[in-house]
Amino acid sequence: MDNRSVKIAPSLLSADFTRLGEEIRALEEAGADILHLDIMDGHFVPNLTFGYPIIKQIRQITKLPLDAHFMVTNPASYIEQYTRLGIEYISFHQEATVHHHRLANEIRAGGSKAGIALNPSTPVETVFDILSWIDFILLMSVNPGFGGQSFIPVVYKKMKQLRQYCRENDLELPEIQIDGGVNGENASLLTDAGCGILVAGSYILKSDDYANRIVSLRS
Ligand code: DX5
Ligand code: ZN
Repeated sequence: MDNRSVKIAPSLLSADFTRLGEEIRALEEAGADILHLDIMDGHFVPNLTFGYPIIKQIRQITKLPLDAHFMVTNPASYIEQYTRLGIEYISFHQEATVHHHRLANEIRAGGSKAGIALNPSTPVETVFDILSWIDFILLMSVNPGFGGQSFIPVVYKKMKQLRQYCRENDLELPEIQIDGGVNGENASLLTDAGCGILVAGSYILKSDDYANRIVSLRS
């Protein structure tokens, strides 16, 4: 992957929520490509974040593509509401549902890109049979639930297996997102390995120069 074409998706999980509008404006000016929204229900992961009312307002103040990462036990109950908002990317966890095909179809029918997310311990083979129904794969490089955790390098092997499987089966490689512990040290290794979207929360938002951090993720 050409590093210049990698997309950078800051995760708002590490933003200052008392100044959310300003944070979004600062990320736009700093060159963010996508805004990553971590939706947690306190069941699938041991944390709660934000949901529809806040995301609806975010949609109204930015033209950046939005990427909703559902870390919830019942993603099917939310999809329609979110596709109607015009969310460009919607991912649900492989581990959270058994109806992957139905859910991916619903997301696509609503006009959003459908993604499937995998926890670090979930083998990538579990999505091989779903590849033609989805637009992107989110590979977690931390255990979902919190920002600021250390990178787990299991995603390199997964990207290699994915590339190999797609090559051997004449399938188009879906866009790959890596989420968790992404920083200036692992970014170029990840893009070289095939990642097209780098999600980064604390590395960008806990710094005092967002633009500099975004540039360092691209180079
Ligand atoms: C974790 C979330 C991530 C998180 C990444 O459950 O899915 O998107 O915000 O944060 P960092 O980049 O700080 O690991
Ligand atoms: Zn996320």
